[in-house]
Order: sequence, then C-alpha cells, then structure tokens
Amino acid sequence: MDQKLQSLREQFRDDLNSVSSAAELAGLRDKYLGRKSGLIAAEKKRVGSLSSDERAEFGREVNEISAEVETEIARLNEQLASEAETAGLERETVDITLPGARPRRGHLHPITLVRQRIEDIFVSMGYTVADGPEIETSFYNFDALNIPAGHPARDSADTFYVSEDLALRSQTSTVQIHTMQRQKPPLRVIAPGRVFRRDTPDPTHNPMFFQVEGLNVDRNITLADLKGTLQKFVEMMFGANLRTRFRPSYFPFTEPSAEVDFSCYGCDGKGCRLCKGSGWIELGGSGMVHPNVLEKVGIDPEEFSGFAFGLGIDRMAGLMYEIDDIRLLFENEVRFLKQFS
Ligand code: FA5
Repeated sequence: MDQKLQSLREQFRDDLNSVSSAAELAGLRDKYLGRKSGLIAAEKKRVGSLSSDERAEFGREVNEISAEVETEIARLNEQLASEAETAGLERETVDITLPGARPRRGHLHPITLVRQRIEDIFVSMGYTVADGPEIETSFYNFDALNIPAGHPARDSADTFYVSEDLALRSQTSTVQIHTMQRQKPPLRVIAPGRVFRRDTPDPTHNPMFFQVEGLNVDRNITLADLKGTLQKFVEMMFGANLRTRFRPSYFPFTEPSAEVDFSCYGCDGKGCRLCKGSGWIELGGSGMVHPNVLEKVGIDPEEFSGFAFGLGIDRMAGLMYEIDDIRLLFENEVRFLKQFS
C-alpha cells in the first residue's frame, strides 16, 4: 500500500480511539471526509501526479480507506447514541418500591372545632343556631341594645366605623335584636360569630375575635334559668365537677347583669398557671334581657322575660388547647395549626 495512505489509515485509527463524544466524532468526520479540506480529499488530488500504472492501484486503496473511515465513524456514532440512551434511562429510573408521597389533608381550625363543640352542646339543650351581619347600623349596634347616645361604647376609639351610621359589630348581642324581630317567643337561640373592637393586641386580646351569644325568651324565665344553663354548659364543655359564680356587673341591655366565672379545671379552684392563681376562669357577660330591649322589638316585657349571655370563643380555645397567646390563632402559621389536625 502507498506509504502515505498507510500512515493516514494509522492516524485515523488513533484519532478514532480518542473520540468520546458525538461532537468529537463530528469533528473527526470533517477532518477525514470533508469535501474540500478533508484529508482523504487531499489524497485523491494526488492521483494526477501518478503514472497511469499506479493510478488504478492508488484509486482502489484510497476508496478502501475512505470506506473504512465511513464505516468506523458510523459504527462509533451508533455506539455513542446507544450509550447516551442507556445513561438517560438510568437517570430517569423510578424506584417503585419507595413509599408514595401522601397528599396533605386539610383540617378544621381550632376556633371552628371549639365553635362546633359549643353548638353541639346548646343544640342538645334545644337551642337553634342563628347568624347575623358583621356590619350593622347604629340601630342594631346601639339603639336597640339600650346603649344611649354619648355612651362610651359608641366612641370611634372603641368601634370600627364604616360610615357615620354603619360600624363593624363589636359584640354578637346585635343578633339578639335580629332574632327577636324575626321570631316571637318562646325562643332559644345561640349566635356564634366574628366581632371587632379597637383593642390593642395582647395575649388575651385581638381586634377581631369570636363570641357566642345566647338568648332565651319565654314566659317566666328567671335568673335561675340563666345560672342553670351556664352551669350545665360549663360541665359539658370543661368538666363535670366544675362550679360557676356570678359577679354583679353592668351591660346596658341586661338588668341585672353579671360576669360569669367557672372554677379552674386545671387545679379544681386551688390556683394554678391556667387561672393565674385565682382558682377562677372568666367565661363572659350575661344578664336578664332589659325590658327596654324587649319593647324595642315589640315583645311585651310584662308577659315575657329572657336571659342572654355572650362568651369569648377565642379565650375558650386558648384554655382548652393551652394556648398562652390567642394571637397565634390568626397568624396562619401552618406548624402551629397542624397540631389540631
Ligand atoms: C360583651 O361583649 C357582652 N355583649 C356580653 C353579654 C351578652 C352580656 C349578653 C350580657 C348579655 P364583654 O365585652 O365582656 O361582653 O365580652 C365578652 C367576652 O368576649 C369576654 O369575656 C372575653 O372572653 C371576650 N373578649 C372581649 N374582648 C376580647 C378581645 N379583644 N379579644 C378576645 N376576646 C375578647
């Protein structure tokens, strides 16, 4: 074989051995088989300088090398493609023995859990559940609740006003009025819902919180009915052996009025961290519906009487779940809320 062709063949074999990627192989193809500047094309040009005897032999040898280069490049190309495919499949392997990722299930908010429990207890006592608007006119917020003009509760420092006559309700007592306008006695209703006050947030105060209102109007309803009802509620909600106490208080829409406490279930009234050493936990406000309120909704106070109460749901949730700071209930911190699933 022609000396130069022989060394070209050896050079090609060396070059081929060092190729490790498709890009390098494309470069090799150009180097040897390129039409204009490829090494084989350059060899072909030598034909003109050969004698006619040598030409046939030389032509055969050039074609042989050219075919070898073509074949080897095609073979390596196929090999690299198949290696790349195998590596890709290995990368994408799915281990079907791994446990599946469970979708996270939602759950009820602690306030909703407590609210549902309160509803269940009162429904079992024959109460129905009512609802009312969160934005109210002065009539429902104040006038009908016997809160006179100039009373501090009307002050814009305490209430969120939307306009001169409209404000966010600051207590669920507004639902008492809606209920008595809709329904004539006898009536037994609770109304859980959101209320708003310009209170500075601290561990026991939020500017937005939940209350549950209770209202029972019939003939011959007395303070004893109120006390019995709240005593029963406390027993069902917090524990069978707990006691309640009533401290005289003042609300414009009840007369007489009382703050209700119950003996601490953490220490049975001896004093602990839960009740801050007092042995008692505040439940909420209550009283006998004021005759002026009954008159405002067209119920004869000579014929009917009633009791009402308003309890803080957030603080009850705080007690039941031992949450030191009720502001946590509205921060939407998932790690905190997950505890209640
Ligand atoms: C009232 O709101 C009266 N409407 C209750 C009432 C109803 C009396 C019917 C008579 C007849 P008071 O302002 O005390 O009362 O609030 C009742 C309860 O709401 C409190 O005992 C407390 O548990 C809760 N509460 C009051 N302010 C806040 C606040 N900023 N954040 C969280 N809870 C609060």
